Amino acid sequence: MRAAVLRRQGEPLTIEDVTLDAPGPGEVLVRVEAAGVCHTDYHYMTGDMTAPLPLVLGHEGSGIIESVGQGGTGRVKVGDRVALMWRPRCGECRYCVSGNPVLCVLGRVQATTGGLLDGTSRLSKGTEQLHHFLGVSCFAERVVTSERSVVVVPDGVPPEIAAIAGCAVITGVGAVLNVVENAAGRSILVFGAGGVGLSAVMGASLVGANPIIVVDMDAAKLDLARELGATHTVDASGGGVVEQVLEIAPDGVAWAIEAVGRPATLRQAFSSLEPGGTVVAVGLGPVDATVDIPINELVQRQKRLVGSLYGSANPRVDLPAIFELYQAGRLPLDRLLGDRVPLEDVNAAYDRLAAGSVGRTVIVP
Ligand SMILES: NC(=O)c1ccc[n+]([C@@H]2O[C@H](COP(=O)([O-])OP(=O)(O)OC[C@H]3O[C@@H](n4cnc5c(N)ncnc54)[C@H](O)[C@@H]3O)[C@@H](O)[C@H]2O)c1
Ligand SMILES: [Zn+2]
Ligand SMILES: [Zn+2]
Repeated sequence: MRAAVLRRQGEPLTIEDVTLDAPGPGEVLVRVEAAGVCHTDYHYMTGDMTAPLPLVLGHEGSGIIESVGQGGTGRVKVGDRVALMWRPRCGECRYCVSGNPVLCVLGRVQATTGGLLDGTSRLSKGTEQLHHFLGVSCFAERVVTSERSVVVVPDGVPPEIAAIAGCAVITGVGAVLNVVENAAGRSILVFGAGGVGLSAVMGASLVGANPIIVVDMDAAKLDLARELGATHTVDASGGGVVEQVLEIAPDGVAWAIEAVGRPATLRQAFSSLEPGGTVVAVGLGPVDATVDIPINELVQRQKRLVGSLYGSANPRVDLPAIFELYQAGRLPLDRLLGDRVPLEDVNAAYDRLAAGSVGRTVIVP
C-alpha cells in the first residue's frame, strides 16, 4: 500500500509502497478514508520533536474496519466506521483508573518504541522496519492499529469530520469542556486560529463564554474565527497583543487557551489573565523550548498555568459526545474543514499549513 514516510527530518515525506502486516491479537485493519493535516506531524517533519525513523506520519484519521485480529474484545467488527485516536487507554494503569486516561502508560509505549501497544511494528519495506506514529500512521491507504485506538463513528458523521474529531476537535473542544470551569458569561482568550484553536473557539461558544477573543497573525483565519463564535479578534502581526486584549477585557481574561506553542504567545497569554485567571497550554513547541513566568505575578495574582494533552479527555466518552453535538448542530465542524487533497499532495499541504492555509486540510488517500 502507499504511505507517506518521514525518512529524515527537514526533508519532504516520500510516498512509498510499503508492507502492512495483518492485524495481530486485539488489533484492527482500517482502510483510511480521511486524514487531517495537524501541526504536530509538522513538528516531527521539521525536527522540533523526535521519534524513531523511518516513520509513517499522520495521527488524525478515520476509516472503515476491513479485518479484525484474533482475541479482540468484540467491541468492533468488519465494516464499522471508526475514528482513530492517538491516545489509547489500557484501563488498568494508575492514570486510567484515576480518571486521567490521556496520561495512560500506553501512550509512552507508542511514542518511545514507534510500535503499537506491544512495542512492535506492522510496517515494513523489504527487510527494513518502518515505525508507526502514535499508534496511528494514517497518511497511508490503510493502518493496523489497536482496538483501543478506535472509536465507532455514528452514521451521518462524514469521514472528514470523524478524522478531525480525533485530534484537533477533541483537543480544542476538550480543553474547554474538561479544563475550563464556569465559563458561561466569562472571558476566554484563544491564541492561534488553526484547527486546534478554532476548535477551542467552538467549545467556548458552546459553553457560553463571553467575550471570546481570538489572536492570530492571519486576517483570513480571524474571519473564520468570528464565523465560529469569536466575539473579538486581535491581529498579532502588528504587535501590542496584550494591550489590544486589555482594551477588550480591561481586567484581563478569566481563561486563556494557547494553541500556538511558542514562548512569546504563552507569555502573552499569561500577561492577559485577570487575577485568579488560568492559561491552558495546548500548543507544542520544539523539545527544548521554555517560557519565563514572573514569579510574583504568579503568586500575588494567583494566576495559574496548566497543560492539556488531547483535550484532557476521556476519548471513549468524549468523542461520541462530540459526534452527538455535531449532529445536533451545536458544533459547526463542517466550517472547520479546508481543502481535500490526495496523499501525493501531503508535502504541499504542509507547506500551505506553514504559510497559513485557512481551515483544516484533509488528505483523502
Ligand atoms: N496538546 C495537544 O494534545 C495537541 C494536539 C494537537 C495539536 N497540538 C499542537 O497545537 C498547536 C496548534 O496545532 P494546529 O494544528 O492548530 O496548528 P496550525 O498551524 O493549524 O495553527 C497554528 C496557528 O497559530 C498561528 N500563529 C503562529 N504564530 C502566532 C503568533 N505569534 N501569534 C498568534 N498566532 C500565531 C498561526 O497563524 C496558525 O493559525 C501545534 O503546536 C500542535 O502541535 C497539541
Ligand atoms: Zn492506562
Ligand atoms: Zn494532532
